[in-house]
Amino acid sequence: MKLIVAVDKNWGIGKNNGLLFDLKEDMRHFVSYTRGKTVLMGYNTLRSLPGGMPLKGRVNIVLYPEGSDADASEKGYILVRSLEEMSAEVKKHSPEDVFVIGGAMMYRTMLPYCEEAIITKVDADGGATVFLDNLDALENWRQVASEPPIDDNGYKISFCTYKNSATLPF
Ligand SMILES: NC(=O)c1ccc[n+]([C@@H]2O[C@H](COP(=O)([O-])OP(=O)(O)OC[C@H]3O[C@@H](n4cnc5c(N)ncnc54)[C@H](OP(=O)(O)O)[C@@H]3O)[C@@H](O)[C@H]2O)c1
Repeated sequence: MKLIVAVDKNWGIGKNNGLLFDLKEDMRHFVSYTRGKTVLMGYNTLRSLPGGMPLKGRVNIVLYPEGSDADASEKGYILVRSLEEMSAEVKKHSPEDVFVIGGAMMYRTMLPYCEEAIITKVDADGGATVFLDNLDALENWRQVASEPPIDDNGYKISFCTYKNSATLPF
């Protein structure tokens, strides 16, 4: 299982239940990784997507203890109400095809179970109110690759990969 996220220079990821930046290249990068795959998200992230709809062309698994089956079937996502239910659902897919896509609560919960984090670093302060844990400060996470920065909508961004040396089974 992998995690994919865009962070600002403070490891900020969002504010007002939305993203910090409008980044076209990063969106392309996100789609290229997740197209045809399975994505795991918390309910706030589903609500933050256009129209509150799941992502097209992907299996969407949404963790929401208070969720409604009617909403899930109408919108076309798989509702899970606990980590146990999520684990059972995730086991139906091969681990390399499963991506944790946010938000803050979901990333924090799933970080120990991810073997890789695909991180877009944005060289700016987005004034975030929600954050990813600083992976540079965690003993078992190590940056293994970083691409040269590119310009994206006026921001300098860099695609990076981190690996977890102590991944827990989920
Ligand atoms: N920069 C990026 O790449 C990126 C990507 C995705 C999202 N984001 C941003 O992240 C922000 C949303 O983050 P968030 O933390 O508010 O929301 P979230 O993780 O998307 O969703 C939180 C909700 O999901 C359920 N949930 C999540 N983890 C759970 C757990 N371990 N156990 C039980 N329920 C769990 C909870 O439901 P209950 O309340 O019922 O317990 C909770 O209310 C937004 O600003 C969004 O734009 C950024």
